[in-house]
Amino acid sequence: MLRVVDAPQPEPGPGEVLIRSIATGINPVDDKTRAGAIGEGTPPLPMTLGWDLAGIVVDGGDSGLRVGERVVAMSHQLDSGRGTWADLVALPARAVAAAPQSVSLVEAAILPLPGLTALQTLNWLALSAGERLLIAGAAGAVGGLALQIARARGVRVDALVSRNAHAGFARDHGADFVTTHPGALEQRGYDAVFDTVGAFVTEAVADGGRYASIATQAGPVPDQSSRGVRTVVNQVREDGAGLAELADLVDRGSLRPRVHAAFGLHEIRAAHARFLQGGLAGKVAMTF
Ligand SMILES: NC(=O)c1ccc[n+]([C@@H]2O[C@H](COP(=O)([O-])OP(=O)(O)OC[C@H]3O[C@@H](n4cnc5c(N)ncnc54)[C@H](OP(=O)(O)O)[C@@H]3O)[C@@H](O)[C@H]2O)c1
Repeated sequence: MLRVVDAPQPEPGPGEVLIRSIATGINPVDDKTRAGAIGEGTPPLPMTLGWDLAGIVVDGGDSGLRVGERVVAMSHQLDSGRGTWADLVALPARAVAAAPQSVSLVEAAILPLPGLTALQTLNWLALSAGERLLIAGAAGAVGGLALQIARARGVRVDALVSRNAHAGFARDHGADFVTTHPGALEQRGYDAVFDTVGAFVTEAVADGGRYASIATQAGPVPDQSSRGVRTVVNQVREDGAGLAELADLVDRGSLRPRVHAAFGLHEIRAAHARFLQGGLAGKVAMTF
């Protein structure tokens, strides 16, 4: 059960930064963790959930971050047990970066986990300008950011979305071709596929291409080695340098975080109910 409780103030250790939270986001992993769907490796109960964070530095330690600086961070809550849904959070400095200047901290707060997943997976796919990428789930949190980052890199993007209502977002953000039908995808047409949902549209990738899934629960990508296709199920990592790159993309106008709705922390159950209802055009944020 989700509850707001008093907890001891965290003491930052060597190499850590203490941050006063302003906002955070709800991600699918939070809900899977809560539902017990992650299995082995889940931190013990009671636990503080949350991966995303935007806030103000209270103690920068030896990180070079100044007291009062606006920052963003991603905590790998499953690995470390350090959840970000707390007023004060101590995190390793390598997981923290200066927040983008051109958006509010509520908008910045929904960027870290989906943004780093998009960025790190695109880096694995190593697309050059002019190459063709298919994104499955292109209107979702990760897919929508991946679409924008890929376009900023000059990559040509097509989109597979779940419903017609999502098609406009993909087109407005530069997708050339948008469909709800996997059967309408060009056979072996794409240099790479970024699959955010476990759609496993492996026939769409060209021989010798790359196929990255982030849908961990869906299992491995079916083996394509006979066609020379490299496959991976990518796992997001804490990455302050990646966050700085995302902040720069935001400030240059190439990347726009989308907040569907924001709730106060004490409305945490209502926030979750909205998240679980689905059909979101952007993320559910929580403010402190
Ligand atoms: N491996 C990692 O490190 C990592 C990191 C981040 C996220 N993830 C996982 O990646 C998945 C996506 O995360 P997210 O935050 O982007 O979720 P999200 O915001 O819910 O986005 C998923 C999007 O995909 C759409 N969709 C669902 N099934 C589809 C299908 N068969 N074909 C096309 N589109 C489909 C959804 O549409 P509707 O709105 O219609 O449902 C939604 O727009 C989650 O399972 C999450 O746990 C993994």
